[in-house]
Amino acid sequence: MLDCHSVAVEPVTRTFLAAYSGWMTQHELEAQVTTDDQERRVAIVTGGAGALGVAIAHALHRDGLHVVLADRDHDAAAARAAEFTGQAAAVLAEPVDVAQPDSVSALVERVGSAFGRIDVVVNNAAVQRRGDIGDLEIDDWDLAHRVNLRGPMLMCRAVVPYWNKQRSGNVVNIASRVWLSGGPPIYVAAKAGVVGLTRSLATELGPLGVTANAVAPSFVPTNFTRAGRDESSWQDLLDHHRAMSPLGRITEPADIGDAVAFLVSERARAITGEVLHVCCGSQLAPR
Ligand SMILES: NC(=O)c1ccc[n+]([C@@H]2O[C@H](COP(=O)([O-])OP(=O)(O)OC[C@H]3O[C@@H](n4cnc5c(N)ncnc54)[C@H](O)[C@@H]3O)[C@@H](O)[C@H]2O)c1
Repeated sequence: MLDCHSVAVEPVTRTFLAAYSGWMTQHELEAQVTTDDQERRVAIVTGGAGALGVAIAHALHRDGLHVVLADRDHDAAAARAAEFTGQAAAVLAEPVDVAQPDSVSALVERVGSAFGRIDVVVNNAAVQRRGDIGDLEIDDWDLAHRVNLRGPMLMCRAVVPYWNKQRSGNVVNIASRVWLSGGPPIYVAAKAGVVGLTRSLATELGPLGVTANAVAPSFVPTNFTRAGRDESSWQDLLDHHRAMSPLGRITEPADIGDAVAFLVSERARAITGEVLHVCCGSQLAPR
């Protein structure tokens, strides 16, 4: 049984959700889904239970897309999905471990057979692993590369058949400003790899009408950056990043969501292979 949540949805979407969660057969679904619903684009956001994942999902949902919050922490993703209100499009939670090929294939299979299409993939799931080159743990390196770099590759590989059929689509990979600045080698190498992967996807998938871009945040206040810090060092960190920004402000999750929504919109139709820094200008700072 799949979890699904959408509040204040239109009747057609309710029908759709009923089918998706197994209350209705595929045949009954096909008889009832309207053209409007079939034409609505479908986005998968990995790491959809996290702060940026939720903000990205809100921006895409606001723009009328069905959104799947795909996360290893399925309970959290289901809880976040239940909080969406006020749009016709559906918001669903699905379990996935992006590091595992079978898990990714199963996710894409479930989403594809439920909606009949997959348009947008936002590769946002990641883990942070620190350590200097002299003492980093090999297991940390392997884990971060499996999740942060192999994960986006697996997701895109699994969705290619849909893009091939649809002749359109969008990939947005969430990178990081550190691909430019350097920093802890495990995380930085994986994120620089994400930029390389994005450029490869842009050249390979372009003929299918698929754009591929990276969004590179710098510091955003989330659990990702808050973990393990006491209040005083947290405040110091906020001050440090405010000072780094020419705009004198901290980037918020909604800033990232809006940038992703732009990159998958018709307005960005001529943009592919790009890295969009969304960090209030902090990419201009040396470190
Ligand atoms: N927060 C920042 O300052 C910042 C800065 C630059 C880049 N980023 C990038 O933004 C993205 C989101 O960061 P966030 O701050 O929202 O982090 P977060 O920790 O709030 O969210 C990350 C989510 O990814 C999920 N996840 C981890 N491993 C997974 C796996 N194997 N399979 C599926 N899901 C998995 C987690 O359960 C979590 O819900 C990451 O790619 C991160 O590298 C964040």
